[in-house]
This record gives sequence, structure tokens and C-alpha cells, in this order.
Amino acid sequence: MNTKDFPMLNKDIIYLDNGATTLKPKVVIDKIVDYYSNYSANAHRGDYDISFKVDQEYEGAREKVRKFINAKEREEIVFTSGSTESLNMIANGFFKNLLEPNDEILITMSEHASNVLPWFHLQNTIGTKVKYIPLDNNHYVTMNNVIKSITPNTKVISLAGITNVIGDERPIKEICKYAHEHNIFVVMDASQYVPHRKTDVRDLDVDFMAFSGHKMCGPTGIGVLYGKKELLEELEPINLGGGMNESFDSPNEVYFKELPMRLEAGTPNIAGAIGLGAAIDYLTSIGMEKIHKYEINLRKYAMEKLIKIPYLDILNIESDSGIIAFNVDGIFSQDVAYYLNKYNICVRAGNHCAKNLKSEVGVKNSIRVSLYFYNTESEIDDLVELLSNKEKMRIEMI
Ligand code: ALA
Repeated sequence: MNTKDFPMLNKDIIYLDNGATTLKPKVVIDKIVDYYSNYSANAHRGDYDISFKVDQEYEGAREKVRKFINAKEREEIVFTSGSTESLNMIANGFFKNLLEPNDEILITMSEHASNVLPWFHLQNTIGTKVKYIPLDNNHYVTMNNVIKSITPNTKVISLAGITNVIGDERPIKEICKYAHEHNIFVVMDASQYVPHRKTDVRDLDVDFMAFSGHKMCGPTGIGVLYGKKELLEELEPINLGGGMNESFDSPNEVYFKELPMRLEAGTPNIAGAIGLGAAIDYLTSIGMEKIHKYEINLRKYAMEKLIKIPYLDILNIESDSGIIAFNVDGIFSQDVAYYLNKYNICVRAGNHCAKNLKSEVGVKNSIRVSLYFYNTESEIDDLVELLSNKEKMRIEMI
């Protein structure tokens, strides 16, 4: 659906790597070009008309994000470079000051590196402990396993809302309810969630959430850190400099601005934020529920065909998203990706930055097809046809 909106889809490619990044619709590209062509000034700094227009657009984008995830206040929306920066800010700006040695942080083996390494860093610097919630046979998180993993030392549960290889959705709302009853914070890596689901942070009741613009039709280099206002007030800025300070006279007299400016030091990614605002308008005009439904149906269509190929080892026959991870028996995943590339089909192969997952699924690498709403059944047919001929695959790889 909506394929005509995407200039990249005028080319002869089948793009099935949306978990890595999505394509950009023309309205987003135009919005960015408009900024650079017609009012390319800085934000929050100028006393002239085009600068006022920048402020209006930049803060307008913040309001669009707020509304899109149903945050309560604009101060709860901080623009960052992406999920990675957001998660690092949460770990280093908030939890590093709060946690004590031996406090425990619960994650899982299927988290992306950006939801693992910041917590490893805390373990290595302040002595907190990273622990893992066991996954069930389908690599899912169950409430039962969450509850069993909690100890009196558990202080944080940090999970992807939807994972980037298995594509399973976690019961975040239930986890938040239970965690909060036990004074545990919940952090949600929503990189693969916000682009595909209607998101309501107040309903979920997450304490912090991170996501990236480029995985939801927006530009690269822009992302969001959401936090409940009272928690963000306690998040120490990692970056200090222009735009975030109210005044400074000496090391003892440094005063920061209010949220969210306090956490956005330096000239922000203005074009990125404005582009993300346009992406949100675009997604909203289609409807997030419609997008989700379409992806699930398309995955079902693909799975019914892929499952019939006897030499495919599918890692996630069950999944709550448009992600399908598999291997071709006897052929290295990257070789399969190169083979598909010969036919202009773009998929990702490798460990997908989820390097701990191998101990869960028993394989280090896989081929990942990740769908978005502009993919079609005919693209799936082309993929299936190519994967159905193992001999051709073998010959063309030589
Ligand atoms: N995190 C991105 C992915 O899953 C890059 O491919």
C-alpha cells in the first residue's frame, strides 16, 4: 500500500530490510528540502523571521511526537540522534547516579546491542549486575518468567517492546504494572515498536522509552528519548554546552535551562526533527492500526509460502510483527543475501546487532526479512520463487 509515495520504490528494487531502516516518502524528503531551501536558520537562537519559523517547526515536531505517543507534556520529549543515544542517556544520565553496587538490571538475550552495552557499562563502572529474564521455547518473554527473575535487588527492567530478530512483542503494560508495584523502573527500547504500533506511553506506563526516526519513514540521525517528567528532571545532561545552559560565570555558577532544552545541548538536528514531524503526519494519515494489520497479514501470506520450503530453518514461525528470520540449510546467511541482491532484493544477514541471541536460537547468523506497509504480496512471491530453487542458489553463488 502507498508504494507511489516512495521515490525509492520507482527503482527496480524489492526492499525488505525495514528493521534496519525504512524508506522515506516524498512528503518527508520535501519537508527537509524546504527547510534547507527556504528557512535554513538555527533554532532557539535568532531574532528574525526565518529563525522564528524554525522554532515553530522544530517545536511543532516535538508536539507531533508528544501526540503520536500520547505523552502528557512536551517536556517529556527530548530529541536525540536515535535510540542508541537515548538509551545511553537513560543509563548514564539517570541510573548511573541512582543505582548502587549489586542492584540488578533485567534484560534478555534477545536485546539489541544498544539495550545491552549501556547496562554492561554500568556493571563495569559502578558494580550493578546485568541479569537475564529467560525466554520461552518461542523466544518470548512471559510474565511468569519476569516475576521469577525479580529479586529484592532488581531496580530496572529494560526490554525491547518488539525485538529486532524474532519480532516478538513483550507484555510491557503488564510488566510495568508489576514492576511499579515492586518499585522497579521500566525502560522500553521501542525502536521496532513505535514505527509499527499505535503507542500510548501513558497506557503502557513506561518510565523511559527510546526510538529512532529513520525506522518510521523519517530521516536518519534523529530519535526520541521519552521519560516521565519527574524522572527526566533528575536525568543529568551528558552533553554540556550551548542551548542547554541558562547562565554560567564560574564552575560553581552554572545554571541549566528547563526541560527539554537542558538535554539538547548544541545545535540540534533541526532538519531531522522537522522531517520526523512530517513522517509522523504521514504515518498518522494512513493510521497505525491499519499499518499493523497490513504487516501482520503480509507476514502471514509470506509464512504460508516460506514454511513449505523444506530446507528453510525459520527461527520465528510465530511472531507479532513483520519480521521473519531464517536460514537456508547448508548455505551461509550472507551468501543467501548476496544471491537475493543479484535480483535486487534487499534483506539483512548476520547477527543483526543482537549478538547474545545465538545462545537462545542456536545459530549465530540468520537472514532477516523485515516488512513495512509498502511491501506487497507480489514482492513476497518474487522472494519465495528465488528461495524455492536451492540448486539455482548454489550455482549462482559460485
Ligand atoms: N537495529 C537495526 C536492525 O535491527 C539496525 O537492523
